Parts: sequence; C-alpha cells; structure tokens
Amino acid sequence: MSKPFIRKDLGIAVIGSGRIGTLRATMASNHAAVKFLAVADKDPARAKKLADKTGAQFHSSDNLAVISRPEVDAVVVATIEVEHTLPILQALALGKPVLCEKPLALDFAEADKLLAAAKQSGVDLRCGYSRRFKDKYLLAKEQLMNGRLGRITSGMARVFNSRSQAVATLSRLPADTSSISGLVYYIDLMHWLLPDNPPVEVFARANGGSIKGAGFANTNDITYAIVTLADGAVIDLGVCYALPKHYPSLGHAGRVELIGTDGVLIIDDDHTDQMMYSQHSAPHVYLPDHNVEMVFLGSGTPGDWALGEFQGPVATETRNWLDYLSMGRPCLLATGDDARRTIEITLAIERSLQTTAPVRLPLAA
Ligand SMILES: NC(=O)c1ccc[n+]([C@@H]2O[C@H](COP(=O)([O-])OP(=O)(O)OC[C@H]3O[C@@H](n4cnc5c(N)ncnc54)[C@H](O)[C@@H]3O)[C@@H](O)[C@H]2O)c1
Repeated sequence: MSKPFIRKDLGIAVIGSGRIGTLRATMASNHAAVKFLAVADKDPARAKKLADKTGAQFHSSDNLAVISRPEVDAVVVATIEVEHTLPILQALALGKPVLCEKPLALDFAEADKLLAAAKQSGVDLRCGYSRRFKDKYLLAKEQLMNGRLGRITSGMARVFNSRSQAVATLSRLPADTSSISGLVYYIDLMHWLLPDNPPVEVFARANGGSIKGAGFANTNDITYAIVTLADGAVIDLGVCYALPKHYPSLGHAGRVELIGTDGVLIIDDDHTDQMMYSQHSAPHVYLPDHNVEMVFLGSGTPGDWALGEFQGPVATETRNWLDYLSMGRPCLLATGDDARRTIEITLAIERSLQTTAPVRLPLAA
C-alpha cells in the first residue's frame, strides 16, 4: 500500500518573543506549511517587534489571546524557564501540540503536572534539546542505531562556555545552575544516544567560585558527574561555564566520546576547526553586544546566520517539528517523558553535590 500524501497547513503561536522565540518565529514564518503566525510576549513592544520582523498576522501581550486564536494549531513556548508551565497548560487544554524550550520544568511537581495534562488531553508535548539536531550528533545516533559500537561500556560528554554567556543565561534565572542551563543538553543527548539503559546512580563533584562571585549563588564554575547506567556502563558528564569572558567559542564548546565492545566514537565539537581573527570583530548570535576578535566559527549553540538564513540545530529542530505536524514525518524532539528523565539527572546532580554522596535513581516524585 502506498504512503498517504499528507500536507496540512499550520497556524503557529510563539509565546515569548526573546532570543529563542525570535528564531522559532523566523523559522516558522519561512516554513511552507505555516499560513498563520501569532506571537506573544509579556512585553508588548517585544511582541510587536517580532511580529514586524516575521510578518506575523497577530501579536499580543496576552498569551491566551494568542494561543486560543482559532487559526493557531500548535504552540511554541519560548518564555524564560520559570514561565513555561501556564502557556503549556493553556495550549494542551485547547488540544494544541506544544514545543517547549528546555528545560520542560525545574522540578518534578511542575513536570508531572505537564505530563498529566498531556496524557489527559492526548496532545503531543515536546521539549527542545537542540543538540539532537546538530549534524555530528545525528551521525553518531545513526552509528549507534546500527550497532557499530557494540554494547556501550562508557562515555563522556563535557561542555564549556564563557563567563559572559553564563551571566546572560543566568540573568534569566539567577537561582539556576550550570547543570540545568548547560549540561541538560548533554544529559538529554546521552539518553537519546543510549536508550533502554536507564541511569541508576549519580555521583557529582563541583569547584570554583567566579560565577558565584558574579552574584549567581548556585552555580559552580565546574561540575563533573559520573552516571552509572542499569547495565553498569559509566558516563562522565562535565560542565564549565566559566571560561574567560572573551573565549573564542560563541556558545557551547563540547566533546563527546563513546566506547563500546566493538568500537569507539569521538566527537570533537570544540569548533577549533574553523577559526577567524578579525579587526572588525564578529557578531554573537546570543549576545548582541559581545565583540570578539578571535572567533570559532560555527560555535553558536542554537546555530548561526549565513546569507540571511539561520542555519544549525535550532533551525533543523524547528523544521523537524513543523514537518512532523504538517506531513507526519518522524519527530526526533524529546518527549515529555524524555524531558522528565533529564530533569531527574539534574536534580540528582544537585543532591549529590549537597550531600557529597552518590544518589540512587529513580528519585521519588
Ligand atoms: N535550544 C537552544 O539552543 C536554547 C538556547 C538558549 C535558550 N534556550 C531556552 O529558551 C528559553 C528562552 O530563552 P531566551 O534566551 O530566548 O530568553 P529571553 O530572555 O531572550 O526571552 C524570553 C522572553 O520571554 C518573555 N516572557 C517572560 N515571561 C513571559 C510570560 N509569562 N509570558 C510571555 N512572555 C514572557 C520575556 O519578556 C522575553 O522576551 C529558555 O527556556 C531557555 O532555556 C534554548
């Protein structure tokens, strides 16, 4: 039997017209299936600015007015981390699928409320962990799915970022930790690369006070965690958001390694393969006022602008979600359950740091 040809027009709402909401709305406005776009922000000037930029047909500072527009079929929630819950619940109650920026929630109570609402309404809830959509990691997933490494016995993922990015990220949520704001992407990535092997124990250590000194009391300069999986595989996760302010990477600088019984996979994601030094400086996709002369090109975490188009993980991720909604293509974005599992590891890391002891999983809700 031939595959049915599905092409559904879409109306998309973007709630939160900040940095990432702007990228999502731009991608939506450029997608062939999207015939209606509405944007919201609690700051009406931001909503208007984004509507002007993208040609959105409706904008408001009232989230519900945007979500409940009859033309809107699905909703992106790109508000700051502590403001995700209400617009997600409003969208789910109206039967509209949601793409929420990471993290889905900051604790189990909120996450479970969202998962229950999605289950009760039968509406699809996804979370944007955009590392899944970086070419290097997509290729890694392909090798693992084909069993080319055999059984994975160990792995590591570490991410560096500059203090300037840490301060910008933490300004949204001063109580945040680098595990929640940065390491979450790699926790999700490891879950995605190694499914069906749940974590059973987390042991973490942290050090360094430069970010704390800048007013963010819960963020250590460097955190390492060893996560043991059900079959005994050990995964080393590391995050340092305290490299010097003008470190040439304009976002995550990463390295991921996986060792299996039949092979090894090493992913150099530090971006040192494309360096530029310029007296004219180069724009930072996330920090508009940040000027650096030495740049690792391609290191913007969401992606980078080239020839008027936004290229990279958030672009591919947004397209994948829109293709899924409009054409029924497979959706690679994290599910609500995936997002909850990632929250669990971040909570276990924080608990292990506080108690200085290993933490057994699953954590009680
Ligand atoms: N996937 C990625 O690469 C990536 C990168 C950075 C941030 N993020 C995530 O994206 C989300 C947004 O981050 P950002 O950097 O765009 O933040 P931002 O501060 O640039 O934008 C957030 C916007 O939400 C608005 N807002 C806040 N509360 C609101 C509410 N209740 N209703 C409507 N609007 C509200 C703010 O006015 C602001 O314009 C966060 O969850 C963050 O973790 C994802």
